[in-house]
Amino acid sequence: MTYPIRALTFVGAIVALGTPAVAQTEVKIGYALAPDSHYGVAAKKFEEVVTAETGDDFTFTHFPSSGLGGEREVIEGLQLGTIEATIVSSGTLANFVPDTGVFDIPFLFRDLTHARAVLDGPIGQEILAKFDNVGLHGLAWGEQGFRHITNNRNPIHTPADVAGLKIRTMENPVHLAAFNAMGAAPTPMAWPEVISSLQQGVIDGQENPLSVIVSVKLNEVQKYLTLSGHVYSPAILLVSKPFWDGLSDAQKAAFDTAAAEAVVAIRGFVDNVETTGVETLKARGMEVNALSPEEKAEFQASIKSAYEGYYKTYGQDLVESIVSFQ
Ligand code: PAF
Repeated sequence: MTYPIRALTFVGAIVALGTPAVAQTEVKIGYALAPDSHYGVAAKKFEEVVTAETGDDFTFTHFPSSGLGGEREVIEGLQLGTIEATIVSSGTLANFVPDTGVFDIPFLFRDLTHARAVLDGPIGQEILAKFDNVGLHGLAWGEQGFRHITNNRNPIHTPADVAGLKIRTMENPVHLAAFNAMGAAPTPMAWPEVISSLQQGVIDGQENPLSVIVSVKLNEVQKYLTLSGHVYSPAILLVSKPFWDGLSDAQKAAFDTAAAEAVVAIRGFVDNVETTGVETLKARGMEVNALSPEEKAEFQASIKSAYEGYYKTYGQDLVESIVSFQ
């Protein structure tokens, strides 16, 4: 595995004794978090399996920690063919495949098992296939876990506690509508700007799953963690369509196998951090509270007007068929 700044495209591997040069294709893979995060672990597994299945066909260069820019820029790089692969959140996905926004609806999924079943099932796979129409190829749905709110102003128990709270959301209209309906003051922002904005007090809080909060040590810039679990956070393993179209059938099969294994790795990581993350963050000094079922129900009721918009955009039947999916 190589990390930047090296950029070797089609490296000729000259083997001793005059063996002809073998062209290796570089796979630049970008992601927003550190090598030891859920994204880093999945990207490493992806590389390992592709390499095991294809020998010397590909060389991977990893760009962790937003090394290639924000998630939207990286996806655009895939469309242009200047970046080969990425693992990203659903934050900006609806700009590319609008239907993905349905998975961003708060209080849609009961638990991780429910979310994984929907994403791996016909609804998730049908939406995954739509990336082929926009210069991308969706290999598989991964995940980050359920998102929770952190902030520096006050512990959160009811919607009244988020009133006017300057909270960063992803650049995602579904999340934005929910936080507006709750009465917060949401600010959509690309991830690379978030830590400095929290440090400077431009925003009071943000929301992300434990996987992210632990990995980026948000405890260093945030005092309160409220386990709101208000929305599931899917992730996706994408490759550039121009790159995908240039692969042989055997190479495509190797990438599919590798993606399936990367999903096992990312879900295993999330399962673990969902169990251990709260204790880790308490030990690092965060003040943590979990919403009771009654408090959660209050938040759910507070976004009723946003739900009317979601039904219009995505169709009430689709939303309800996801909710009732077993
Ligand atoms: O909050 C976000 O933008 C995403 O969850 C993050 C941290 C970039 C991971 O994909």
